[in-house]
Amino acid sequence: MIDPDKVRQFWERRAGDYGRLQWESVANLEQDEEKLRIKIREETAKVTAWLPLLQGRSVLDLGAGVGQWSLRFCQWGAARVVAVEYIAELGRIASDHAQRQGIDNIEFVTCSVEDFETEERFDLLFISGLFLYLNDQQLAAVIAKLPGMLRPGGQVMVRDSVGTEGRYEIHDRYSEHLGSHYSAIYRTRDFFVDAFALHSMSLEKDEHVFPEGHPLNKYPETRLHLFLFRSSPEALE
Ligand SMILES: C[S@@+](CC[C@H](N)C(=O)[O-])C[C@H]1O[C@@H](n2cnc3c(N)ncnc32)[C@H](O)[C@@H]1O
Repeated sequence: MIDPDKVRQFWERRAGDYGRLQWESVANLEQDEEKLRIKIREETAKVTAWLPLLQGRSVLDLGAGVGQWSLRFCQWGAARVVAVEYIAELGRIASDHAQRQGIDNIEFVTCSVEDFETEERFDLLFISGLFLYLNDQQLAAVIAKLPGMLRPGGQVMVRDSVGTEGRYEIHDRYSEHLGSHYSAIYRTRDFFVDAFALHSMSLEKDEHVFPEGHPLNKYPETRLHLFLFRSSPEALE
């Protein structure tokens, strides 16, 4: 298990790197300028291709970081976005960017995803790069409450890193690339499919974000993966 305090400290330090690092790099952890450009371009294309039409829809972005996905959802027509992030400074960076772009339909909430509660039902839940920073207990609690935040038939898009040869954990290990100690849990693709099925959210499709041989598949132990789940109407009964 990873130490939640160390995870939080990592993200607090990361928020402090804003200015030295590019906006999106703060949250997506790619620090090479050329790779960051490719990552943003290719991920955005894939996410857009898989997303339902967002025109007039509502989106809950859990672990929203510096808010680039929330902003994109608004640019793509979402009527309302709620962006939940537990590091206040990251939320402030996100809200500054929204203001500068004239986007006023994002509600920024400073809260951990474990503590976040709402009566609202969203059309889409977007969870990107969050689960690998949660311990099993935290993750199970978060997945269990997702159906209650989704309208019947709504979708959940998960973008998370998975272990290629099984579960893989990093405990407070120094990363040269990040210049920081780092902790994360890479679960398997099947783990996520089963965990969502347990709560009546069935897999519609999934795939590694980058094809084999791609320069952004940097570590053999892990791959960035995209999942699209749909809740069954009876999940809310
Ligand atoms: C890799 S970043 C991803 C940010 C954004 N979703 C994206 O795709 O760029 C992970 C984010 O999750 C946030 N986070 C980690 N644990 C969290 C928790 N328990 N509750 C809320 N946010 C959390 C971090 O502060 C960080 O902003």
